[in-house]
Amino acid sequence: MKRVTLLNIYDHDIAQKYVKRSGLAHAVATAGYAFDYAIEKKVDPDLAVKAAFLHDIGHYTWYRDGQWDFQLYKQYDIHAIKGAERAHKLLIRLGEHPISAKKIALAILLHTDSYLPEGEWKLDPLQEVVALADSKDEEPGGKHHYKVIKERDAVRKLAELDQKVGQFRSKLVQDNQPVY
Ligand SMILES: [Fe+2]
Ligand SMILES: [Fe+2]
Repeated sequence: MKRVTLLNIYDHDIAQKYVKRSGLAHAVATAGYAFDYAIEKKVDPDLAVKAAFLHDIGHYTWYRDGQWDFQLYKQYDIHAIKGAERAHKLLIRLGEHPISAKKIALAILLHTDSYLPEGEWKLDPLQEVVALADSKDEEPGGKHHYKVIKERDAVRKLAELDQKVGQFRSKLVQDNQPVY
């Protein structure tokens, strides 16, 4: 099965609309951090970068009088739930394997605990990598959602990540290790 790349995802209308809504710069930065954490924690970097790139795809903008309203957001937000579903649908449309699409969707669902009941949640390593990568790029007051990046820089960074993931997978094949 041909690998669905970050650039394939980026090019799709759904990603163009919704990843940009929550911030392309944050999505690209989070994907970059997720690659590094994935290598460190022996998690499949292919799944990690895709989940990280798509993690905020379920965001809705909560505005009152033209300004982002954090209270409204806290009260009504379900972006992780919506994002998990939206990302899953997009990935399946692009030809992602259903097992990978499920893992990515679950990592998106659990990337934030803001809507979960109090308590200890045991994340699996992929879910942990995506949550860590997101936190690393976060800025107070949600400012990370408003960072800007030029389209061509975003495309270049995503292409670099695609290449790094491809190299990592080829190395596994060369070393006769299973491509996880
Ligand atoms: Fe989020
Ligand atoms: Fe985020």
